[in-house]
Amino acid sequence: MTTAEIRNDQEILDRASLDDVDAISAFNADPDEVMHAVEDQAEAIFTWDYEKGSRPRLDKLYEKAKVSQWNAQTDLDWSIEVDPSRAFNIFTESSEVNTGHWTEHPDSPARNWGDKEWEQFSLESFGWRISQFKHGEQGALLCTAKIVETVPWIDAKYYAATQVVDEARHVEVFEKYLDEKVGVRYPVNPHLQLLLDDIINDSRWDMTYLGMQIMVEGLALAAFGLMHQVTTEPLLKKLLRYVMSDEARHVAFGVLSLQEVYADMTSAEVLERQEFAFEAGVRMRDRLLQQEVWDRMGCDVKKAVKHGLNIPEEDQIFQQLLFSKIVPNCKKLGLLDAGDGWLRDRFTEIGVIEFEHLEDTGQEYEAFSLDEDVPVPA
Ligand SMILES: [Fe+2]
Ligand SMILES: [Fe+2]
Repeated sequence: MTTAEIRNDQEILDRASLDDVDAISAFNADPDEVMHAVEDQAEAIFTWDYEKGSRPRLDKLYEKAKVSQWNAQTDLDWSIEVDPSRAFNIFTESSEVNTGHWTEHPDSPARNWGDKEWEQFSLESFGWRISQFKHGEQGALLCTAKIVETVPWIDAKYYAATQVVDEARHVEVFEKYLDEKVGVRYPVNPHLQLLLDDIINDSRWDMTYLGMQIMVEGLALAAFGLMHQVTTEPLLKKLLRYVMSDEARHVAFGVLSLQEVYADMTSAEVLERQEFAFEAGVRMRDRLLQQEVWDRMGCDVKKAVKHGLNIPEEDQIFQQLLFSKIVPNCKKLGLLDAGDGWLRDRFTEIGVIEFEHLEDTGQEYEAFSLDEDVPVPA
C-alpha cells in the first residue's frame, strides 16, 4: 500500500496559516471581468453499458428528479413586493442570533454604527448572499455538465443530466430575484471563485463530486435552510423551499456515488480527498467573512476579516450550522476517520466537528420533496 504523505497548510492552502489575515483579505475580485475561463482537463467518457438501474439508488433518484421539476417563471408569485433590507436581517431584536461581537465589541469596525448603517449593511449583506448563491449555482451548472461527460456509469449520466436542468433553473431564479426584488449585486467572492476553479480544474471525476456535490452543495443546502427558517419574506421563503427540494437530491447524488468509489481507494488516494475536503471547507469559511460587504461599507477590510475570525466560540453557531450537512456526509464517506483521523482533527480545528452525529443526507431528499407536507428539516 502506498504511504500517504501529509502536506502542511502552506502546501494545501497556499498561505502561511489557516487564519492568515493578510492572505485572506488580499484577495480582490475584478469588478470589470465579464468572462472567466478555467481548463477542465478531463476526458469525455462514452459507456456502452446501457443497463438502466444497475445502480438502483441512482436510478431511483433519476426517476424522482424527472417528476420533481418546477418552473421559476410560473410557479412563484413574482407580484409580491419585497423590502430587501428586511428580508433577511439578523441585526434585529427578534433575530435569535447574537450579534454583539459586531455591534458592541471595541475592536469591531462597526461599533459606532447607528440604525441607518445597520439597515444599509443588512441590504448589502442580503444582496451579497443572494449574489453568491447565484454564482455558486453557476458553478454547480458547469460542474454537473462536466459530470455528465466524465462519470462512467449510465445511471449517473442520466441523473446528472437532470441536475444540469435544475442548476440552470437555480441560476435563473436567483438572478430574477436579484434583478426584480433586491437591486444590490456583487461579483463572485474571490474565495468561492478559487474553490470553483480548483474543482473544475481537477481532472479526476470523483473530485468534481466531492468539491461540488458534497462540499459546495452541502453548505448551500444548510445556508438555504437557515435563510428559509429566518426569513418572513413569502416569495423568498417559497423560492428557497423549491430550490432546497432539488439541492437535497444533488447532495444525495454525491453521497450515493462516492461511497462506491472510495471503498476501493488506497490510503494515499483517500488522504488527497481529505485534504481537498479540508481546503474546500476553509475556502467556504473564508467566503463567509463577506469582505466585499465590509469594503463597500467603507470599513478597513483587514480589520473586519480579523474580527470575523475572532468570533467567540459560543457566538459561532450561525457559521457552524452551515457545516451541518458537510460533516456527517464526510463521515458517511469514511473521510473523517481515514488516515488516523486527519480530517477529524482539521474539522475540530475549524470548530465544526460537533455535527458528525447528525444524519447524513444520502436519503434526506425524500423529506425535502415538494409533495411532502412536512416541516422542512433545517
Ligand atoms: Fe443548485
Ligand atoms: Fe445543486
